Amino acid sequence: MKQRIYLSSPHMGGEEMKYVQEAFDTNWVAPLGKNVEMFEKEMCDYVGRPYAVALASGTAAIHLGLKYLGVKEGDTVFCSSFTFSGSCNPIAYLGAKPVFIDCDYDSYNMSPEALEKAYSVYPDPKAIVIVNLYGQPAKFDELKAIASAHGTPILEDSAESLGASYKGVKTGTFGDISIFSFNGNKIITTSGGGMLMCNDEATRKKVLFWATQSREPFPWYQHEEIGYNYRMSNVCAGIGRGQLKVLDERVKRKREINALYRKAFADNPYIDVIPTFEGAESSYWLTGATLTKDCKASFMDIIDALNAENIESRPAWKPMHMQPVFADCGFVTHLTDEQRKKSGFGSVCEDLFSRSLCLPSDTKMTDEDVLFVASVVNKTIYDKQK
Ligand SMILES: Cc1ncc(COP(=O)(O)O)c(C=O)c1O
Repeated sequence: MKQRIYLSSPHMGGEEMKYVQEAFDTNWVAPLGKNVEMFEKEMCDYVGRPYAVALASGTAAIHLGLKYLGVKEGDTVFCSSFTFSGSCNPIAYLGAKPVFIDCDYDSYNMSPEALEKAYSVYPDPKAIVIVNLYGQPAKFDELKAIASAHGTPILEDSAESLGASYKGVKTGTFGDISIFSFNGNKIITTSGGGMLMCNDEATRKKVLFWATQSREPFPWYQHEEIGYNYRMSNVCAGIGRGQLKVLDERVKRKREINALYRKAFADNPYIDVIPTFEGAESSYWLTGATLTKDCKASFMDIIDALNAENIESRPAWKPMHMQPVFADCGFVTHLTDEQRKKSGFGSVCEDLFSRSLCLPSDTKMTDEDVLFVASVVNKTIYDKQK
């Protein structure tokens, strides 16, 4: 059996062990220490944002970020529907209700039109979670203008988009609070971890306070608020510091992989790599692809064919408003009834989910690996078209 090709697996750069070893040598094997402080500083320098708090996961960062933005029991929070559940589970942790917002066909991210429409139904959301899907930035000029006209803060979920930019500015800078994930499948990893980025010391201090069990400054353990054990370990932060050294290389390789797929599918009229738009410089964490409506192969046909070759791929995220656990939550699409009838789907993200998949985008893949994957995809499609 050929070696498995993965969707996006951990890819060490070589310097990680130096920092991990330092943590061991100094006995700082704890959720604090030099690596944690330095990883935060190095992320601030990379992203171009003044403050960061290293946390146990991206989900924890969203949780504390939304809490800081004042989300509480009974509130409404707008959230991209086309995403992973980590984007919206924290809304529920806080006792608030998500209202999911449709995406558009050119960015696959939150539709500004749908966001504007959502205010006519839900006039008073406490915050908006905007996701940068698969490394592609959302349309922040339009989205931010709408949010600020209504006075709603943005939590930018950049879990998938470290290294991407919008109009020359790095993602992770667009939200009032922004977050990253360093889960094992992300562009760089700390095995598991996250980072909250913000603009002022007061936010950083409060988030750090909550993340370390809300311990008050007394000689004894005094707690006046509920706290969380969400801090990143000094060992994990050491992995992150080593990984940051190769981040630019990883982004470059993800973009090369995307370009190879685009070229390989250029003559196939039944499949399109996820489009990009003016101003977006995606990191292409994952290369997504969408089958045309007249393609006779389904995304599962392709996933099965790839799996038979020991290649990992997966369907696009199933929209959150279609998930049983969020069945009682609101959803807003910008499509008119006529457009919905014509497309046969209730929304853009339902349509895209029915025809899209994520192709292996592992930075350890060779050009030959990518071309082989593309050849299996092309063959599966053409065999079904016969
Ligand atoms: C869009 C998105 N949001 C949030 C998360 C949650 O991050 P974590 O797994 O670090 O909790 C992830 C990924 O895991 C994600 O892809």
